[in-house]
Amino acid sequence: TQAEPVMPLKDPTSDMVIIARKGSLLLAGSMLGHILGVGKTTQQADADTVLVGDQGDVDFKEKLKFSQHLKEKAEAVSDFAKSKSLSEQRQYLPIYTVRDDLLGVVRENQVVVVVGETGSGKTTQLTQYLHEDGYTRTGLVGCTQPRRVAAMSVARRVSDEMETVLGEEVGYAIRFEDVTCHKTKIKYMTDGVLLRETLKDADLDKYRVIIMDEAHERSVDTDVLFGILKKVAARRRDFKLIVTSATLNADKFSKFFGGAPVFHIPGRTFPVNILYSKTPCEDYVEAAVKQAITIHITSGPGDILIFMTGQEEIETACYALAERMEQLISSSTKAAGKLSILPVYSQLPADLQAKIFQKAGEGTRKCIVATNIAETSLTVDGILYVIDTGYGKMKVYNPRMGMDALQVFPCSRAAADQRAGRAGRTGPGTCYRLFTESAYQDEMLPNPVPEIQRTNLANVVLLLKSLEVENLLHFDFMDPPPQENILNSMYQLWLLGALNNAGGLANLGWKMVEFPLDPTLAKMLLMGKELGCVDEVLTIVSMLSVPSVFFRPKDREEESDTAREKFFVPESDHLTLLNVYLLWESNEYSVDWCNAHFLHVKGLQKAREVRSQLVDILNTLKIPQISRHREWDLVRKAICSAYFQNSARLKGVGEYVNCRNGVPCHLHPSSALYGLGYTPDYIVYHELVLTTKDYMQCVSAVDPQWLVELGPMFFSVKEGDTSFLDRRRWHNEEKTAMEEEMEKLRQEQDEAACRV
Ligand code: CDP
Ligand code: MG
Repeated sequence: TQAEPVMPLKDPTSDMVIIARKGSLLLAGSMLGHILGVGKTTQQADADTVLVGDQGDVDFKEKLKFSQHLKEKAEAVSDFAKSKSLSEQRQYLPIYTVRDDLLGVVRENQVVVVVGETGSGKTTQLTQYLHEDGYTRTGLVGCTQPRRVAAMSVARRVSDEMETVLGEEVGYAIRFEDVTCHKTKIKYMTDGVLLRETLKDADLDKYRVIIMDEAHERSVDTDVLFGILKKVAARRRDFKLIVTSATLNADKFSKFFGGAPVFHIPGRTFPVNILYSKTPCEDYVEAAVKQAITIHITSGPGDILIFMTGQEEIETACYALAERMEQLISSSTKAAGKLSILPVYSQLPADLQAKIFQKAGEGTRKCIVATNIAETSLTVDGILYVIDTGYGKMKVYNPRMGMDALQVFPCSRAAADQRAGRAGRTGPGTCYRLFTESAYQDEMLPNPVPEIQRTNLANVVLLLKSLEVENLLHFDFMDPPPQENILNSMYQLWLLGALNNAGGLANLGWKMVEFPLDPTLAKMLLMGKELGCVDEVLTIVSMLSVPSVFFRPKDREEESDTAREKFFVPESDHLTLLNVYLLWESNEYSVDWCNAHFLHVKGLQKAREVRSQLVDILNTLKIPQISRHREWDLVRKAICSAYFQNSARLKGVGEYVNCRNGVPCHLHPSSALYGLGYTPDYIVYHELVLTTKDYMQCVSAVDPQWLVELGPMFFSVKEGDTSFLDRRRWHNEEKTAMEEEMEKLRQEQDEAACRV
């Protein structure tokens, strides 16, 4: 008989349409029957049809039994993981079955590409296998991660598995935090940290093996490391490189490394049933919350993972979930099971992040609300339900603003599939896609665009210049960034004074590279030194390097706003940050004081750590820590020297326009300059936040004279001013020199292209 056409069914509680796809598995039928409330139960078969049946239907009963069987199997698997010791769990991982073969391939080859499903044990096991095989006798085994959270949590896990103290045999290093010691054998770190290490030690001599983990994420730093490590491998015969990837980019990586062997770890995953939304969803936060509650009420055990785009959304969703649960508990006659709501995003403090790995209590379901950090970097066992909003945040260069901005984009098909796969790790799972199937087929890109092709490269350019890569266009990039991006970034660095007219590093540039900071912040610091207020600038830079220290709990907004206002320095948010820090310092870094003033103590403590590390760097550069007590105008001038590219002019009440391109931009309501009746004519800002409006975040009033003095290529006093012509001539000469240089680069690249 002919298969019946697919029959979409509307689920009235979640706007979800249930479509069975060929090969998909049975779904617990009672759930839908419950939702539909029509006395009939729906379930999906492993064919192209949706079956609607009564409880009395014989065939249906068979299927229900099968579904029950799958569920039990899933529970058994997850119970297994929970009940076993760490060393037993290690042996249960898919990678364990190929351990010896894998070590054999590594012994025989200098570069190996390892491919395996997420959760197969690449990140936690490879380093230990290499250690067990003796590689750490002659050097470190380093493992890079694109994300800080992953580096920390994985190091902790591995040090637990090895029964060591974190920071001894197994440690980690992220920017401003080095938890390793002389005993360390296995070191997890962000790719950015390893990249900076190449500045001090071009051959990375202390490493015996480097594992470039999660290489498929293709962060800018990973992409630059590819080129650098390829050279290291060519120079050092004793050096080994392992590149891991969750998806099938493997051939590309293998080709880049001259045909390195690709080692596949056999997968062990369960099928995931994928359900699409019938109509595009308007408010995906609301839709996701609804879906999660529906699952919680109507579906069998198994944890839920929701993918959102960022912190703010995650907090909103968690709040809404908690609220719904409360309503449910108070209104329902039948007790609903407990739901443990757990947010995860990269700025979340580590102790809170660690909670997602902890076991929930008996009868409690976990609901993790995460950014794409949980796509591949973090693996949590026990997830059987994934809710995918279909969006993620990406850093993209915005030419209109001349800067990078985090923007929300539809994720790629590869990312959506990866997300869905998270539901099938411990048993057959379900993925609820809050987007339509046609959006998946027609609107999503097959693969994400590598970061290096879409972001500002000022940091990378500065770094490569200091590594004496003369011509950036000849650097061995796997996917070269658009030439325009390189030239744009060079221009920005030139404006800051980091590059000379010939495109080489200027004195200032050489000093800027020493700091693990964005070029603008490094410039601010060095200008602070010139102006004799480096101590104050140091504090501001540290405060800008940590998440906001102001705590604004829901329900206590007014109270916390009043507390914040007490710290305001009316002409500057930067000085407000300085003020907070100084007051905290004079209160002996007290925790209680922070709590009483609605300040995140962890944030301040982090700023203090960052500060002390920057002091170390200043000391090695022999820059004394000079302070200008309360001469804060000079501090603002140092800020202006770094941010004159981000300046705005007063246009109306509370309304500014960007000095360079005339685009309107607004004071953020949290700014010290907002609503205090003091609106200066000229301001500079730290960054723009693009939400409903273009908001300037962290703003300081500046003297227009400073703009002229510090950014002469942009600003002049007045058209009639005699010095204006000189300045313009000077500006043109500079710009021409720069452009000639850029033109030269362009021609060289064209020639190179012709040769190919
Ligand atoms: O790297 P890959 O995705 O192949 O797997 P992994 O991160 O090494 O994870 C292997 C196992 O370790 C998974 O079952 C995780 O649940 C567990 N793990 C953990 O419990 N805590 C961590 N911080 C990392 C992994
Ligand atoms: Mg991994």
